[in-house]
Amino acid sequence: MLPVRPSTSSQPLIKIEHLCKSYALDNQANGSLNSQVLFDINIEIGQGEFVAIMGHSGSGKSTLMNILGCLDTPSSGRYWFSGQDVAALSGDALAQIRNRNIGFVFQGFNLLKRMTALDNVATPLLYAGMSRASSRKRALEQLRLTGLTDFSLYQPNQLSGGQQQRVAISRALINQPQLILADEPTGNLDSQTSCEIMALFQQLNREQNITIVLVTHEDDIAAYANRLIRFKDGRVIHDESVT
Ligand SMILES: Nc1ncnc2c1ncn2[C@@H]1O[C@H](COP(=O)(O)OP(=O)(O)OP(=O)(O)O)[C@@H](O)[C@H]1O
Ligand SMILES: [Mg+2]
Repeated sequence: MLPVRPSTSSQPLIKIEHLCKSYALDNQANGSLNSQVLFDINIEIGQGEFVAIMGHSGSGKSTLMNILGCLDTPSSGRYWFSGQDVAALSGDALAQIRNRNIGFVFQGFNLLKRMTALDNVATPLLYAGMSRASSRKRALEQLRLTGLTDFSLYQPNQLSGGQQQRVAISRALINQPQLILADEPTGNLDSQTSCEIMALFQQLNREQNITIVLVTHEDDIAAYANRLIRFKDGRVIHDESVT
């Protein structure tokens, strides 16, 4: 039985305050230029929320997701994950959060091509120090929960897009994270398969209280979430709960 996360907690899982992000661009004519991508973002997300992020291409959605996933750092402002000031954490502590507390799901699935579904799902456990035999056993159980028992020994190119994404979701879930960050997870899937993947996210959110933050361009995908945040030109222009 997988753990059910507490639905109420005194502190938000994610809290960002006055967050800005700029990139230094090398420009031959002018030397170094700064390009600001995120402007004064303030967001709190509680454990168990299911949040959709929408906005035009280039509005900063993936940049924010990378910061939320501790894969990138803000240029200014603060980010607390589960009450911890992320800027104050060591590289090892950040790697541990990425491995144990956050599961990542991407548009392109990002599976290791020469590995079976089973070994793709087991990989984060190996990184966390578990033995190969134990990690495979856990991975097989995770694949069973996502309906992929019969495909555990298939390699990604032998699986459909929806199956590959379910393998990627299994891998994201294997360390029982508090948070799933999904950047356009249905972007490469047909509408029927997209619905199946979204039903899986919804089930994980409702039954295990896993927090989900999901970027999408599609209204009908965003409709699965309980809260919608809209970005425009690097700013939050809309943030509302939808029930
Ligand atoms: N490493 C980088 N260096 C410089 N600029 C960057 C870098 N990464 C992103 N950008 C710029 O930041 C802006 C926001 O990019 P981002 O990928 O966050 O957009 P997005 O909202 O996810 O778009 P899409 O919907 O197309 O995925 C873009 O203008 C992009 O060019
Ligand atoms: Mg993006």
